[in-house]
Amino acid sequence: MSQRILVTGGTGYIGSHTVVELLSAGYEVEILDNLYNSKIEVLDKIEQIAGTKPKFHKVDLLDMNALQEVFNGGNFDAVIHFAGLKAVPESVEKPLEYYENNVAGTLNLLKAMRSTGVKKIIFSSSATVYGIQESPEYVETMQTGGQLSNPYGRTKYFIEEILKDYSAMDPDFQVGLLRYFNPVGAHPSGLLGEDPNGIPNNLMPFIMRVAEGRLPELKIFGDDYPTEDGTCRRDYIHVVDLAKGHMAMLDHLKPGVSIFNLGSGKPSSVKEIVSAFERASGKELPKSIAARRAGDLPEFWANPSKAEAELGWKTELTIDDVMRDTLNFIEKSN
Ligand code: WQD
Repeated sequence: MSQRILVTGGTGYIGSHTVVELLSAGYEVEILDNLYNSKIEVLDKIEQIAGTKPKFHKVDLLDMNALQEVFNGGNFDAVIHFAGLKAVPESVEKPLEYYENNVAGTLNLLKAMRSTGVKKIIFSSSATVYGIQESPEYVETMQTGGQLSNPYGRTKYFIEEILKDYSAMDPDFQVGLLRYFNPVGAHPSGLLGEDPNGIPNNLMPFIMRVAEGRLPELKIFGDDYPTEDGTCRRDYIHVVDLAKGHMAMLDHLKPGVSIFNLGSGKPSSVKEIVSAFERASGKELPKSIAARRAGDLPEFWANPSKAEAELGWKTELTIDDVMRDTLNFIEKSN
């Protein structure tokens, strides 16, 4: 009997790629999503890739009755929890909505899990929880929660702390906290990729919109940072590598809280990312230098050695693979 996994936010960018890996590995998968930042058509794409269409629940985590019903009938072995609002600037404008959706939504999820004896959860956390550190190379033992620059990052930190407290209460409870760096890229089939509703916040979806001619130019937020080319450096990780990190975590879940960075350990600057995209597309991208964006740190990246040592996982795909797969996704989407 294969394990049954509920994936919240499973029609989203990282969630859908993870669902494909789960199905390909023989897990039974159900998706719960409110479709606030994703499209129902993703289910068909998942079926095209993996040959199976997961059972779908259009449910909001704030609807406790509907959520409870999903669990009552689910017989789940584990939950992978992606669902949440994730736009940093929006979180500054709408802190109450971010705390309600992300934190209260997670509390509802944990209550539904408790009521049906589900004892395993993997949480989609973020490098943002590290805040400002002495070193730009982040390791899991670093203190988190200090000087976080926005409510979005604080919701991720608070949820990590809630899961630690819950685990301390129930010694059988198994938690995986996966701290993502900068997810980018698309499924090699070209059927899944980053396709947020509305104006994107992140670098790669913005580059994609400019390349598609849906936005006039890319604004590079500052080229006067104390880095080699003056632009910020980040650890960009291919979404397929990221999805595979969840499979490795699932295989290694154990009682208590397991924390891992999911990153490449190799930072790239904004200019390097733009150049890689132009190299892959063979075309110049319209761009200009704009003012720095509030809250941006000059550079940070993952020390991924713990995930390699304990999960047997490390990134395999390169920035050029990211650009190839992103261009293929753009082509297949238009
Ligand atoms: C990367 C670099 C920008 C857009 C955030 C969240 C993190 C996670 C990933 C959700 C920065 C520059 C960007 C643009 C630009 N979010 N940039 N022009 O800020 O590292 O991380 O997204 O899971 O939690 O904090 O990613 O892609 O927004 O920015 O110059 O139009 O690209 O200034 O230096 P970031 P990003």
